[in-house]
Amino acid sequence: MEAVREIESRQPPKTSAPRVPPGPPARGGGVLSRIRYGLNFYFDPFGFVGDRFDTYGDAYFVAATGEPGLYVFRKPEDVWAVLVTEAKKFRKTHSAFRELGQVLGESGLLTTDGELWRKHRRIVQPAFSPKRMTEYAEVMIDETVREAQSWREGKRFDLADAMMELTLRIVARTLFGHDASADVDAVRDAMRTLQDGMVGAQLPIPRWLNIPRRRQERAVATLDALIARMIATRRREGGEGQQDLLQRLLDAEDPETGAKLSDVEIRDHLVTFFLAGHETTSNALTWTFHLLGENPAQRARLEAHLGEVLGDRDPTPEDFPKLGFTTQVLEEGMRLRPPVFVMARQAAEDVRIGQWDLPAGSEVVLWLWHTHHDARLYPDPERFDPDRFAPEAKAELPKGAYLPFGQGPRTCIGKHFALMEGTLLLATIANRWRLEPTGPAPKLHARVTLSPKNGLPMVPTKR
Ligand code: HEM
Repeated sequence: MEAVREIESRQPPKTSAPRVPPGPPARGGGVLSRIRYGLNFYFDPFGFVGDRFDTYGDAYFVAATGEPGLYVFRKPEDVWAVLVTEAKKFRKTHSAFRELGQVLGESGLLTTDGELWRKHRRIVQPAFSPKRMTEYAEVMIDETVREAQSWREGKRFDLADAMMELTLRIVARTLFGHDASADVDAVRDAMRTLQDGMVGAQLPIPRWLNIPRRRQERAVATLDALIARMIATRRREGGEGQQDLLQRLLDAEDPETGAKLSDVEIRDHLVTFFLAGHETTSNALTWTFHLLGENPAQRARLEAHLGEVLGDRDPTPEDFPKLGFTTQVLEEGMRLRPPVFVMARQAAEDVRIGQWDLPAGSEVVLWLWHTHHDARLYPDPERFDPDRFAPEAKAELPKGAYLPFGQGPRTCIGKHFALMEGTLLLATIANRWRLEPTGPAPKLHARVTLSPKNGLPMVPTKR
């Protein structure tokens, strides 16, 4: 509470005059200072931003990005206002998305806005209906059993790689009817290069020196070739009886003109779903298993709960609602290690957030990592405690305190898919294997998503 009072005492008094939060002094525009600033952030983003929150309070302002500047928020009320109550006054265009947009194209859901976004969201939404979810659950369990059967007692393996491959196969099979087993290496390499390239590409250095950017361009070409093959195969074989996302995109017609989506639009959606649909869930699971490995008492509770619900069998889709404690474990994993730890927006018009007045054009960063680690919301915040997400405790959390999937109109379209997938995978694996971490605790690798630096070696023991 001392810390809360101290931070609050640094906040300027409420007033009706336009107000800007405190923040670091504007930097000179020198290339060296920009590179130094960029590298400090690149190597330790959480320390970098955390220091600023400690210094300035719950919101700070960075003038150096040019007029009208950048606002960084962590308080639940402010995050909620940007994503939900004032959502109409914001758009997704933000300098942080410029690079992402180059990879995802102009039609994918993550990076588009306005009428175009609405039209495309309507087209893809039915692929996430409850009926489809039950079919997806079958595939999720089937692929996980196959994966878990390939592990050997006492044989060390990289869980981060295994989860990436598994979630990739699941998203490809459920949404595109495609067996991605043969493409896993190419997509994994492309993903790594894309994420590093996206941050590296922002460094103010010429293109010929910018190796991350050139690697990124090659990675996009690899993904494009794979997607083009998937579309060509479906067209050749015909989509008779298929109801997956790929077929919806191929069949979709504009209600007024009857026009079909172009190949580029279809490509943009597929790249978006390919990437957004596996990397995040994979990281959520990898970190959750890491946290369970560090907290044997919570792992024992999970095993006891699985014993009660499943005995020694694998789950079925019907078990999902009964696996509440497994979901709580996953939710607490995503609190401590949110796969998406930051969201960004741009003010489309003048808007007030809390006590601050943001002029049109302001860039906004919602730094969820520090919301999720705030001791005022989560006592003893570094402790792994799935009881924080027991139904009664969850209902007590303030709005905006826990947003791993975002909130408001742009909330994750795959939220239920991911919660079901995460729960079923966790249950299937933890009911068959106990995973013991080996080696030092993994370092955080914060790029577009949050993964463990250098993977996560684990040794499996049969249960
Ligand atoms: C644990 C797993 C996941 C996490 C943590 C996650 C997180 C998020 C977040 C935070 C957003 C909102 C971004 C913003 O408002 O700026 C988002 C949007 C999105 N997610 Fe997820 N996601 C996950 C799984 C998935 C899955 C499985 C899919 C697809 C199968 C998916 C597809 C998308 C798409 C297409 C959007 C853009 C939605 C729109 O703007 O209309 N995500 N996700």
